[in-house]
Amino acid sequence: METPKAQYSLAILVILFVVSNSQTVCNPECKAKEPFNCDNSLTFNRTGFPKNFTFGAATSAYQIEGAAHRALNGWDYYTHRYPERVPDRSSGDVACDSYDLYKEDVKLLKRLKVQAYRLSIAWSRVLPKGRLTGGVDENGITYYNNLINELKANGIEPFVTIFHWDVPQTLEDEYGGFLSPRIVEDFKNYAELLFQRFGDRVKFWITLNQPYSLASKGYGDGSYPPGRCTGCEFGGDSGTEPYIVAHHQLLAHAEAKFQGGKIGTTLIGRWFTPLNETSDQDQAAAKRAFQFFVGWFLDPLVYGEYPMIMRLLVGDRLPKFTPQESDLVKGSLDFLGLNYYVTQYATDAPPPLPTQPNALTDARVTLGYYRNGAPSFVYYPPGFRQILNHIKDNYQNPLTYITENGVADYGNLTLPNALADNGRIQNHCSHLSCLKCSIDDGCNVAGYFAWSLMDNYEFGNGYTLRFGMNWVNFTNPADRRQKDSAKWYSRFVAK
Ligand SMILES: *[C@@H]1O[C@H](CO)[C@@H](O)[C@H](O)[C@H]1NC(C)=O
Ligand SMILES: *[C@@H]1O[C@H](CO)[C@@H](O)[C@H](O)[C@H]1NC(C)=O
Ligand SMILES: *[C@@H]1O[C@H](CO)[C@@H](O)[C@H](O)[C@H]1NC(C)=O
Ligand SMILES: *[C@@H]1O[C@H](CO)[C@@H](O)[C@H](O)[C@H]1NC(C)=O
Ligand SMILES: *[C@@H]1O[C@H](CO)[C@@H](O)[C@H](O)[C@H]1NC(C)=O
Repeated sequence: METPKAQYSLAILVILFVVSNSQTVCNPECKAKEPFNCDNSLTFNRTGFPKNFTFGAATSAYQIEGAAHRALNGWDYYTHRYPERVPDRSSGDVACDSYDLYKEDVKLLKRLKVQAYRLSIAWSRVLPKGRLTGGVDENGITYYNNLINELKANGIEPFVTIFHWDVPQTLEDEYGGFLSPRIVEDFKNYAELLFQRFGDRVKFWITLNQPYSLASKGYGDGSYPPGRCTGCEFGGDSGTEPYIVAHHQLLAHAEAKFQGGKIGTTLIGRWFTPLNETSDQDQAAAKRAFQFFVGWFLDPLVYGEYPMIMRLLVGDRLPKFTPQESDLVKGSLDFLGLNYYVTQYATDAPPPLPTQPNALTDARVTLGYYRNGAPSFVYYPPGFRQILNHIKDNYQNPLTYITENGVADYGNLTLPNALADNGRIQNHCSHLSCLKCSIDDGCNVAGYFAWSLMDNYEFGNGYTLRFGMNWVNFTNPADRRQKDSAKWYSRFVAK
């Protein structure tokens, strides 16, 4: 059959369009495996990104500040009560001693040549009782004023996380923290206090860090404070509490309104791929995994309700938004913060026993890092591009800041080996090359924060893992050294 000429060229046009849309050629390539060919800052550096793109580094309060001069929070209580839950039985009692050494922290940022710093405020440092009626600790306010002023004086833009998992212990004792709807009002007041005191200088606010993790680890398997789960010593219900805690986090986020700049929240940005690419069941499992990790929060934030598949599989155990709450939560993001580390394989799992409901098994997915016995996917930069494109296509292409990305080394490396961290350079540059491709694809990403500025207390792992671009001596935290990755990043991001 002869194809009429006009139709024929239309077909070619369509093919060209499809190809150029799905496979933007970018340089350096977004690759799955080494060699990534991305670590030469003479050829790949910030000039490949939009002029107003923000490069930064990130930390959080409990992981760096030390516990001095503030009231207890859930992590203090948990690490002291259950030292055996962390491999080195450590806590954040001292960590990097940033309470005393914040000027040294800013020096590291300055040497890194970054434009921005993502830090978090320790709730119990400014509100020792967790709520306004318990009084404001003006010493805590002064600490953050000093830090923010030091950053501004050095031309570094603060991005401030309001809540990075450190619930004041008083609120935990009084009403169970995020299990109670009472947290919403207290969180709102806490956020307003921060806006009043710091909002003249802080223009970017992140309400929550990875609400998924607090819900699933604090109340699903009990591996984070407050250590609750079905059968846990302190009680709990893994089938209901994670959903309640997630719900209250979303409402707390939505109640915090900031007029003088931008406010967003940070989600865990994990991507999933079917273990068996040709199996319909595994393909559906990968989609469900995304809905249960990311959609759980992003659907309400963008569309005002939980994903259909969650409503279906979780049923009555999933809280419902009233119409007013749904309106409040929907569209409450000026920007999305996304933390990306890993991609996982997803495979279909049978329904859990109805007698043992658990938020961790409701998705009916088994996740893993292994295919054919090899851990091929932990480190998968193309997953970063895939999740960003998926969010662009399914959630109205939100303004996005990558609020964390990085990799750990073991804490027991010798100092010379720890400083020669070529693996970390490869990790950051390969993810940056995939990020650049995502921006070429049309993803609305405006910034990238390396996790982390410096080695610090890793939640659940203590000092056995080091994520920093700068090395910290934890027996003398003023002793900090530049790793090779810090030198590379400073060349990459320098204006
Ligand atoms: C940054 O990369 C561009 C090529 O993309 C290159 O022309 C420029 O010289 C590099 N800048 C520096 C400071 O190395
Ligand atoms: C960066 O600049 C571009 C082009 O001028 C603009 O469209 C975009 O909104 C800016 N992004 C931010 C986060 O300011
Ligand atoms: C993958 O799934 C397809 C389709 O269900 C099936 O035919 C094939 O055997 C599966 N491969 C493996 C390795 O399980
Ligand atoms: C270093 O730590 C890792 C993980 O904690 C452990 O597997 C390894 O055996 C340790 N190596 C040495 C030399 O202690
Ligand atoms: C860390 O600091 C302690 C105390 O100053 C010192 O004894 C130790 O040698 C330092 N560790 C390294 C690896 O430099």
